[in-house]
Amino acid sequence: VSGLAERLSRVVGRAHVLEDEQLTAAFERDFTGRFAGRASAVVRPGSVAEVREVLRLCAEAGVAVVPQGGHSGLVGGGTPRDGELVLSLRRLDRIEELDEDAAQVTVGAGVILENLQAHVRERGFDFAVDHAGRGSATLGGMAATNAGGPYAVRYGSMRAQVAGVEAVLADGRVVSRLSGLLKDNAGFDLTGLLVGSEGTLAVIARLRLRLVPLLPARVTALAAVPDLERGLELLRRLRAEAPSLQAVDYFHAHGLRRVCERHGLPLPFRADADVYLVVECAARRDPSDELAAVAELATETAVADDERGRAALWAYRELQNETLTALGVPHKLDVSVPVARVPVFERDVEAAVARLTPGAELFLYGHLGDGNVHVNVVGPPLDDQRIDEAVLRLVAGHGGSISAEHGVGLAKTEWLSLSRTPDEIAIMRDLKRALDPQNLLNPRRVLG
Ligand code: MLT
Ligand code: ZN
Repeated sequence: VSGLAERLSRVVGRAHVLEDEQLTAAFERDFTGRFAGRASAVVRPGSVAEVREVLRLCAEAGVAVVPQGGHSGLVGGGTPRDGELVLSLRRLDRIEELDEDAAQVTVGAGVILENLQAHVRERGFDFAVDHAGRGSATLGGMAATNAGGPYAVRYGSMRAQVAGVEAVLADGRVVSRLSGLLKDNAGFDLTGLLVGSEGTLAVIARLRLRLVPLLPARVTALAAVPDLERGLELLRRLRAEAPSLQAVDYFHAHGLRRVCERHGLPLPFRADADVYLVVECAARRDPSDELAAVAELATETAVADDERGRAALWAYRELQNETLTALGVPHKLDVSVPVARVPVFERDVEAAVARLTPGAELFLYGHLGDGNVHVNVVGPPLDDQRIDEAVLRLVAGHGGSISAEHGVGLAKTEWLSLSRTPDEIAIMRDLKRALDPQNLLNPRRVLG
């Protein structure tokens, strides 16, 4: 690799080829501690032309490349295995033209979500996807993984926001679809293909993103309900009565207690409940009246319409992931099932955990409006995959997907067939071979 490092230095500058372990460490171990590997180098190109040249040199040397954004992914998609080269897109952090006529903005793949939010909000727009990782996740990584988050119930996931990408293939060919044309049926939708391909087909270097109007009147409610069935009843009411509805997230009593312990937060209500919902509406004018069903169906409710108050309510939900990760490396399963099935699915998961890994700590929370459940099991050693297997089989049995919003990465390749037919997997392999015949881009991710 040292000859390659030398050639790469000539392209990106010596300062942007990292080999020293102290410098590369942050790129080599994921947030959960589950995935880690020693990269042969971390390369940080500063332009699309440099991305091309880096990929060309890696292809020439036959070196596998792991594209990486904010490194906040949770399935090992952006963490290297030993010997792979990390291609960090973080320096492509320029926010380019904001086209007010089209309500679109062009950004580099390395722009951090929080920075985009600040930029477009100052101009009266907003970006539709948001999540707790906003301070580190990049738009390129979010597109590559088709990230979702709490607002997908209103706006859809990343794929619905990406009007086009500029992406570089393993052999240096470039797909450049940045015109922002929403009506463009001249051939296959290459952007749609690359969004969610988890870095296995091409490296997304720039993006054209759709924006939504900034909705200044936001009301967030934290609501305690006795069980998930009541939560679903509330969800049904809100879907019919609240056109401004943008989030219906949930968590359980156990997760709430753990978050409060770790972060020194007060319990939000006097009485315990099994389920807590975070419901949010946003509109141009105060949408509070659309939340009437919350007060009717919840046993206790707290409401906030200011930035700080809303953040304080969201914290109980957003801190679940960080809190459980601090307790141990989790078995982390991001899945979806048909919304109506969430309660029975959860009961089946509880039974499976009690049977297979008694004593393990189970955290269930997620985005109820999308049937997106985050199953987290802390305790069993990572090489004990019985619970992962059981949960993903339950997902398939309930007609769900083994990956809702985090991707397949390295974590779930062996279970892909629970969500895809043999023909579909064969077609995906054909596409992979056509676009990356040397299998150099994020090898083993998604397809194993
Ligand atoms: C969340 O909804 O908090 C994120 O998807 C992270 C997680 O699954 O814990
Ligand atoms: Zn989530």
